[in-house]
Amino acid sequence: MAGSPSSVAPTVSLFSSSIGRKIMLAVSGLILVAFLVIHTIGNLLIFLGADALNRYAHTLHSLPYGVAWFARTLLLSALLLHVALAVRLHVVNRRVAARGYAVRRYLSASTASLMMMPAGAVILLFLVVHILHFTARSFGSSPPMTRLPEVALPVVNVYAMVYRAFSHPFVAIAYLAALAAVAVHLVHGVASAIQSLGFGGERRIRLLHGFSRAIAVFVVVGLGAVPVAVGLDAWVGVPLFDHAALGGVR
Ligand code: HEM
Repeated sequence: MAGSPSSVAPTVSLFSSSIGRKIMLAVSGLILVAFLVIHTIGNLLIFLGADALNRYAHTLHSLPYGVAWFARTLLLSALLLHVALAVRLHVVNRRVAARGYAVRRYLSASTASLMMMPAGAVILLFLVVHILHFTARSFGSSPPMTRLPEVALPVVNVYAMVYRAFSHPFVAIAYLAALAAVAVHLVHGVASAIQSLGFGGERRIRLLHGFSRAIAVFVVVGLGAVPVAVGLDAWVGVPLFDHAALGGVR
């Protein structure tokens, strides 16, 4: 029959076997990394000027309702699954360590792998604050508005909103600290996830570690460039932003 064990077994074993859970942890992590790479490219538009960033943000917000919510649901599900499976793996590993394998486990684990949980916790905390800050815009005054030639109604001036946020040194430093946690998590996480999906062999593993580091550098340098550039403009006076487009935000 169609509902026989063979049709449900793959789903059940994905959650009930440790290999299945590692694959789910890897796939959910790689979905989040893909988002982060796209998010970095989107944020780099700030260096092309106010209209480029504001148009990008406006286009995202104007996506058909179904598309935007599909993307958000996919991301949120990936995040919840990733956190739940990572916590479970951590608890199981601790139990094994408590049974006397501690020395062997810690000798074979790299510093980066031991830092995965603390770095993940910092990223999770950052994410909650970040979404309240830039997406829900719950802190401070309402976001500045601006015009785009092709849009009839005023749009949110994300260019000025980001500049305003990072011109507070505390905010810029807090974001850079969160990006340090992102770096640690990505350097180990990307390589580890791709290995969990069966990518092996000594030479290929070396390539994989290079790839993992390249993704981490792209994301962290790309995103970190934004608060650093605002800091240089606002506190040192290096003219990196279009002050006319900031609409008096400084
Ligand atoms: C300096 C670093 C960053 C900057 C300048 C930045 C900028 C932004 C901005 C402007 C938005 C709001 C977009 C809008 O609603 O128009 C946003 C949303 C978001 N950011 Fe970031 N971001 C940074 C780092 C990060 C990091 C490290 C992560 C993940 C770990 C992240 C994840 C998100 C998510 C999940 C959203 C919500 C997307 C949505 O509204 O559907 N961001 N970010």
